[in-house]
Amino acid sequence: MRRSAAHIVHEVDRHAPRMVLGLRPDPSALLSGLKDVRMDTLKKLSYHSILSAGQFDRETLLGIYKLSCLLQLGHLRIRDSLYDKILATAFFEPSTRTRLSFESAMMALGGKTLSVTEAATTGIAKGESILDIGQMFNSYAHAVVVRHTRQEALAELSTYLRIPLINGGNGSDEHPTQAIADWYAILKWRPDLLDEGMPEKKRIHLGIVGTPARMRTIKSFLLLSLLFDRSISRITIISEMADPLGAEMPDYCRQSRIPVDIASDLEVVLPELDVIYMNSIAYLGDGYRTLESRFRINAQSSLRPGSVVLHPLARKEELSVELDTSSHNLYFNQADGAVFIRKALLLTIFDKIPLPVLS
Ligand code: CP
Repeated sequence: MRRSAAHIVHEVDRHAPRMVLGLRPDPSALLSGLKDVRMDTLKKLSYHSILSAGQFDRETLLGIYKLSCLLQLGHLRIRDSLYDKILATAFFEPSTRTRLSFESAMMALGGKTLSVTEAATTGIAKGESILDIGQMFNSYAHAVVVRHTRQEALAELSTYLRIPLINGGNGSDEHPTQAIADWYAILKWRPDLLDEGMPEKKRIHLGIVGTPARMRTIKSFLLLSLLFDRSISRITIISEMADPLGAEMPDYCRQSRIPVDIASDLEVVLPELDVIYMNSIAYLGDGYRTLESRFRINAQSSLRPGSVVLHPLARKEELSVELDTSSHNLYFNQADGAVFIRKALLLTIFDKIPLPVLS
């Protein structure tokens, strides 16, 4: 017999800690490692757009991580910091984490949000151009987060916007705030990766399962990873495509001191990897496609002891739920930490970083 919702009892202990399956590294150790990082470098992002991971340098990133740690540890009084600000979140493609974490961050900072959750609820359904919609964002909000299926949509919008634009994922191109959250999870897990003079044998071998030229999270993550040349011994891209870097990425890779190689067999390289970053969805010109079945990991996979798996989610068959309760699971922490990254970015963009932190 089917039970109605009224018969379901779901007891919640409001004093219990927030439970996130998998690893839950404490931000305190990362904060200690960042004690000498200056925060005034973040001033340069004030009222600026965030369009690409490529616009960040290491110094700015570490400033964002220090602010995120302070926020996650509850060291800052920020409750009403953005009380007079409105953030529009305009998602013309589905999202769970990006839109909700930006909105959660904005609300926790005392700000307000306006949401577009699908194109069909806007004038686009009647043939309105995205550029006219952009003119409206200027009038109704102080900043806007946009996700769009078309890579070019953000560049087009940015020419019409007089408010900061945050890229929440543009087609197969980029997802920069996701990549910032990804490295926050890695550095909380291994704060020693920031040690000056890290010996070669303690650096991580990073495996990226996917195609940077076709997957926005993979491309943005690779761009940021190339900044951590003192922390990474090697990056291996594991892809079903012969040329996963495409036309643009090889130049970025050459500018970094990190060796980057390409592999096609995940099972062969898996035992060598300290960090496995995976995503499932690739854009192939005429639509989206998931990874082939040989790019799957589960409890039987030959994961190196102590290694961690990251995934921006949503996942499909490539990442088995069997790993959720394992010590390889850093992916839920990755999503959990993203809200603090987005709080830090909003405080930075609106030039509202609490003064004791800046001075
Ligand atoms: N990581 C990520 O972009 O997730 P959503 O698609 O749910 O926003």
